[in-house]
Amino acid sequence: MIKTRITEKFGIETPIIMGGMTGVGYGELVAAVANAGALGFITAHMFPSGEALKEEIAKTQELTDKPFGVNLTLLPSINPIPYDEYREAIIESGLKIVETAGRAPTDHLPAFKEADVTVIHKCTSVRHSQSAVRKGVDMISIDGFECAGHPGEDDVGLVVLLPATVDALPDTPIVASGGMADGRSLIAALALGADAINMGTRFCATQEAQIHENVKKKIVENDELDTVLVGRNLRNTARVARNAVSEQVAEIQRDPTTTFEDVRDLMAGARAREAVLGQGELDGGIWTSGQSQALIHDIPTCEELVTDIMRQAEAVRDQIAGSGSN
Ligand SMILES: Cc1cc2nc3c(=O)[nH]c(=O)nc-3n(C[C@H](O)[C@H](O)[C@H](O)COP(=O)(O)O)c2cc1C
Repeated sequence: MIKTRITEKFGIETPIIMGGMTGVGYGELVAAVANAGALGFITAHMFPSGEALKEEIAKTQELTDKPFGVNLTLLPSINPIPYDEYREAIIESGLKIVETAGRAPTDHLPAFKEADVTVIHKCTSVRHSQSAVRKGVDMISIDGFECAGHPGEDDVGLVVLLPATVDALPDTPIVASGGMADGRSLIAALALGADAINMGTRFCATQEAQIHENVKKKIVENDELDTVLVGRNLRNTARVARNAVSEQVAEIQRDPTTTFEDVRDLMAGARAREAVLGQGELDGGIWTSGQSQALIHDIPTCEELVTDIMRQAEAVRDQIAGSGSN
């Protein structure tokens, strides 16, 4: 049993979190994560309306009586996203934990505070973490350069970024995100001052993730070199799996004068999700994955994964404690 400010606050059995994931973060997986003793987030923007999100939350509540939350990824979008409806759906459903990402959730904070909802904001730099805490978020999930998705533009690995954030925000519970995959990661993160770890890629390679088997097997096969950074020249960097499409995009973007229009077709997200996550065509488009692929060797159930992580974490902790007494 490892207790932290986060396990105590949320009443979860382990300091393990599954962050929001477009195309992956559905209620079934979130419930499996919750039932395994960890904390998962339904990804709101996959649902067309507050009502649809509410139905997914209700479905998840049927599958688990343990805590879970919703991820609000606050990014500019060509089609307007009904964030206010999502916020009301979360509050009306009685959920008490929200993960936000993208811009700071300033406009949503008063309603969340009023409803006693804890907001964990995902950031990629110390300065953005400090600013978000000043604006009123309750916890920070700090994403290192290793992470799947958007690592920001500073390229600081988690082994420095995490303790730097902890030092800058001693009173704020901090979640270590990016590159976390096993019990060793958990103990290392706790040693660096974190109150929990957040994992994305690792949870994609589980039995309950509703994505094509080919993707899960590819994550197992891939190593730390099998990711590509796209969007660098647009200052909107994303770490994605290495494949024919991501290599082509990166190649085009080596020319700093290119714009989004030059890669728009290759980057088409919805089509890629259908081809890759749905049909298992691994070169069917861009798909998100992190360097933690190097540490992923199996496709367990969420229950097996969480149990294994905790078993390994406790063994590593005891080994370190034992070697200290010699
Ligand atoms: C397939 C996939 C989709 C993701 N989509 C989102 C998203 O929509 N919003 C978000 O805040 N983070 C998203 N993430 C990032 C994760 O929540 C998490 O921060 C990240 O995966 C941590 O790094 P790791 O993959 O090394 O564990 C995604 C990650 C993956 C693997």
